[in-house]
Amino acid sequence: MKHFLNLKDIPSKDLRKILVDAKKRKISRKKLSHLETDKDAPLKGKLLIQMFEKSSLRTRLSFYLAIKQLGGGTLTLRPNELHLGEGGESLADTAKILSTYGDGFMLRTDSDIKIKNFKKYMTIPLINGLSPFSHPTQILSDIFTVEEIKEKPISKLNIAWIGDSNNVLNSLISASVKFNFKLSVGCPKYYQPNKSLLAWAKKTNKEIFIYNDAKKAVLNADVIFSDKVISLNDKVNKKKKLNDFKKFRITQKLLNYAKKDYSFLHCLPRGDEVDEKVFSSKKSKVWQQALNRVHVQKSILLYCFGKLR
Ligand code: CP
Ligand code: NVA
Repeated sequence: MKHFLNLKDIPSKDLRKILVDAKKRKISRKKLSHLETDKDAPLKGKLLIQMFEKSSLRTRLSFYLAIKQLGGGTLTLRPNELHLGEGGESLADTAKILSTYGDGFMLRTDSDIKIKNFKKYMTIPLINGLSPFSHPTQILSDIFTVEEIKEKPISKLNIAWIGDSNNVLNSLISASVKFNFKLSVGCPKYYQPNKSLLAWAKKTNKEIFIYNDAKKAVLNADVIFSDKVISLNDKVNKKKKLNDFKKFRITQKLLNYAKKDYSFLHCLPRGDEVDEKVFSSKKSKVWQQALNRVHVQKSILLYCFGKLR
């Protein structure tokens, strides 16, 4: 049994194995519809319990389809309907019950400490479905999408991130170490990436290129990533933050600095950080990116359940 909490703590070879499996599975079920089970039904009879303390569309649906296609089922809990949420039951007891009734637990939360605590008490796999520190299932799936679009290993590509130094970027930085690709970040001066994560990357001899000028970060990029400036439950002065990011809007003009055949990715939901023209252009692969979450999360589930081929 394995947890899936932060990319930085998962060996590169395991992450690569997940992607290889996802590719095989995606190809082999091309003719099947959403709710049809993969031939081998490797998670037949297994229950994935999901809980969202913050809104979700994609993560919720993609985990639902992922476990279904592997032969299992899912149940989604609302935190305010549990005793834990009302303060009437301890996290330890909740974790024990989840581990007794279910086979896996996927949690989207506003607290990385809560993830740590659940990990301490769970005896079934725990998956981080987005926390303030990271969004590991999103980025592993995005690595899959990049390699699918570009038809080459991501280590051969220049990746750029334009936007906030948030959970998704933290996972992308972790991925750049694990998959050894060049990552350039474009963000305003007072919104630099997480210092301890950069120190961790540096320890592995990995340099992350950080620019306070979007053009410099985008120069020669093969793939440009972005995300909302204001994240879910971001407790900031929104007006000020949006204003601080004015020069980091993804426009066609900015993308002229990228390679000619660049691709644009965005995990969604989106705000005003990207022009509609860019978002709906041919080079934007955001819908393919969103759907690939199903395929990659299936292999993440198999990894957690010790069933990866
Ligand atoms: N990208 C992503 O995680 O979307 P949701 O917030 O809708 O799950
Ligand atoms: N950074 C965003 C990602 C949403 C999928 C957030 O945390 O809200």
